[in-house]
Amino acid sequence: MIHSGDQPAMDLNQLRADTPGCEHCIHLNNAGAGLMPASVLAAVQDHLELEARVGGYEAADQRESEIGQAYAAIGQLIGAPARNIAVVENATAGFSQALSSIQWKPGDVLLTTRNDYVSNQIQYLSMAARLGIEVVRANDHPDGGVDLIHMGELIHRFRPALVALTHVPTNSGLVQQAAAVGRLCRARNVPYLLDACQSVGQMPIDVEELQCDFLSATARKFLRGPRGIGFLYVSDRALDAGLEPLFIDMRGADWIDDDLYQPSPDARRFENWEFAYALVLGMGEAARYAQAVGMESAMDRASALAQRTRTELSELPGVTVQDRGSDLCAIVTISVEGWTPAELCARLGEGGINTSISTRTYAVLDFDQKGVEGALRISPHYYNTDEEIDALVSALAELLASSSSS
Ligand SMILES: Cc1ncc(COP(=O)(O)O)c(C=O)c1O
Repeated sequence: MIHSGDQPAMDLNQLRADTPGCEHCIHLNNAGAGLMPASVLAAVQDHLELEARVGGYEAADQRESEIGQAYAAIGQLIGAPARNIAVVENATAGFSQALSSIQWKPGDVLLTTRNDYVSNQIQYLSMAARLGIEVVRANDHPDGGVDLIHMGELIHRFRPALVALTHVPTNSGLVQQAAAVGRLCRARNVPYLLDACQSVGQMPIDVEELQCDFLSATARKFLRGPRGIGFLYVSDRALDAGLEPLFIDMRGADWIDDDLYQPSPDARRFENWEFAYALVLGMGEAARYAQAVGMESAMDRASALAQRTRTELSELPGVTVQDRGSDLCAIVTISVEGWTPAELCARLGEGGINTSISTRTYAVLDFDQKGVEGALRISPHYYNTDEEIDALVSALAELLASSSSS
């Protein structure tokens, strides 16, 4: 078992021994949900058992210090103190808490990109309809990813009320230049909200370097935590500016007089009263585990597996790799002539290989520009093996050969 404090080293056998799921499937869907290490599962189960024995509120009281340590571990993973971490139900919940904290006025500009996550894009459009704000999207660079020069010009021209960026989109291997966007925002003192749902646990994240005011993430993807929990980082800058979510509740604030409430001084302001403490402890253990593995080596190994997957799949007849950008990560997307992504995903699943799909409605702008209806998504992690990638490539080659001969 890898323990926090161990020297970061890639001991693949150990990593796989720590991961019960490795015995049951070839899991190439870490962008959906990563396989939990046994220690994460144990942290969740242990707390649920305690709740059953002594009562839910009593169990949380007993585990107060461990819960505090979970916040600290999540903070350490992204270079932030525990006081800047809010636990939320999922990445979208954290993202919308942050969106709601801006004092939007009709005509305000929300500046974003053509590759921001689908739910975020839907929320921008909903806010435009209800609040009269304007959604502006920076152009993509011809090589893929947001055009930083255009982004800089738009920040200068519009002085947006918020810049929102998805670090790694759900539907391709693109890594946006999030730190460069952070520098543009800081230079103009524009609040910056980063969706790091696919990047936390996949690559090193440092909120100081990114210069973001908010960062939202989930536990379940590359971080390998349980489903149904996530977190929002809130910077001191945002807290000191008095930003608070629109629907702040009794956890985020104290009701101190008939018509007066007092927001919490720290990121707890962005939390809701009720959440699953078993999952909080599981997410904390996932953060500790990720740090013990070492994020640099985790990223290097997963992205090397992904790059090999791209190279080998692109040699198969009818396969087009759809990832664009100068910096690509451990998400591989392909389209295949004569096959829908759903058919491919189902056939691979029958052979014990987990992948997933993105359909057009997950990324209308990106897929329309690429001229495809969607893509098969293959997302390895550091615990996957070369043999598993070989198995995927052979399985796809066989499927394609069977369709061309029939
Ligand atoms: C880039 C990105 N942002 C946000 C989300 C939403 O995360 P959640 O389902 O935890 O709200 C996802 C989920 O796939 C994602 O890929």
